[in-house]
Amino acid sequence: MSSAKVEVFAVCSTDDIERGDAKPFSLSRINEAGESQPFPIVIVRTHGNDYLGYVNSCPHEGIWLNFGEGSFFTPDRTFLKCGRHGSIFEIDTGLCIDGSCKDQSLEPLALAVVDGDVCVCGIALVEDDDMPNPFDELDDTMEIMIHPD
Ligand code: FES
Repeated sequence: MSSAKVEVFAVCSTDDIERGDAKPFSLSRINEAGESQPFPIVIVRTHGNDYLGYVNSCPHEGIWLNFGEGSFFTPDRTFLKCGRHGSIFEIDTGLCIDGSCKDQSLEPLALAVVDGDVCVCGIALVEDDDMPNPFDELDDTMEIMIHPD
């Protein structure tokens, strides 16, 4: 599979995430030196049917939010949380309101919904050929790339 640099990157179908749920995706980002680096993200679909995206990395030690048991949410599902140390984050803003990284924020992603796909905008991304992708069933969707001209 060839990799292509894109600035609007279709990550998944809008229907791939249930309302009130979140899913992780393993992408790679092109840095200033032209090298690709792992770029794990999470996309949240709110009960109100908004899509929010964050880099899946806690500001404290860079741990995946869904580290461990795999859940992104606190037990009552009203906040995102760090899977290792339990810091909690507002879903809408990514702001940490309690825990080791209080007052720091998750890195937000600009998202757009285009023709039924949730797209990450403004970041040079490639599919990562070197890392095993636990979401292989999404590969067909991830090949849909839209180039703004
Ligand atoms: S890495 Fe998330 S609170 Fe420590």
